Amino acid sequence: MDLQAINEASKYIQAQIAEPPTIGLVLGSGLGLLADEIEEKKIIPYEQIPHFAKTTVSGHSGQLVIGKLSGKQVIAMKGRFHFYEGYSLKQVTFPIRVMKQLGIHSLLITNAAGGINEQFKPGDLMVITDHINLLGSNPLIGPHHELFGDRFPDMTKVYDPDYIQLVKTCAKELNIPIHEGVYVANSGPSYETPAEIKMLRYLGGDAVGMSTVPEAIVAKQEQIKILGISCISNMAAGILDQPLSHEEVIATTEKVKAQFLRLIREVISKLPA
Ligand code: HPA
Repeated sequence: MDLQAINEASKYIQAQIAEPPTIGLVLGSGLGLLADEIEEKKIIPYEQIPHFAKTTVSGHSGQLVIGKLSGKQVIAMKGRFHFYEGYSLKQVTFPIRVMKQLGIHSLLITNAAGGINEQFKPGDLMVITDHINLLGSNPLIGPHHELFGDRFPDMTKVYDPDYIQLVKTCAKELNIPIHEGVYVANSGPSYETPAEIKMLRYLGGDAVGMSTVPEAIVAKQEQIKILGISCISNMAAGILDQPLSHEEVIATTEKVKAQFLRLIREVISKLPA
């Protein structure tokens, strides 16, 4: 994605907001509700923003919501672009480059994910400690601009260790149980087979989903501090004797959203301004 497109999109947004955001939020399936709690908000539908793609999945809506949350100036993506919708990983991660240009230093990425770890149960939360990219592609493939960061970015600590600790501390204070673990990104849109889930468990995965990793790779290259939280919306294929469905994913995130939102608000209140 070229620099001019990023500049045009960020200028368009800048012109409509009073204060630059410092914290970005990517809100996954069923978790968009948090955007509604942003105060003094400016809502910008994706289709109005130059060079933004449009979302297509039900349960996702596409808009940027910019304003105050827990005393911080935030920019939230209510709905994200997925690789399985047919977008390139450049399109999927374009908003991250734009948010960086607007001034964010931290990015909180959320998602709904299937639980691979058999200790997990639907409705649990997991702070992401690391990821495995099985998308078969990488958002950094293609021409490189030095302004983006390194050509070969280090990925040893994608998810900021201080932020992982912060989430655990906040969760403890709020009495919300939280796991930590490795998130695996699969392209989807078909869910995994039981054999694939068994393989992913051997490979060290704790949860599996169809997002987050492209955004995290680009944010890491841009030297944004990253925090990732998964809502375990279902047990991954083959663990329980039942089929998986998008309806189950949405229903579970609906059930736990109150506690999820409480945790996120607390975490944001403790992030640097
Ligand atoms: N697999 C992949 N993606 C998902 C799942 C799953 O089980 N649940 C929610 N997103």
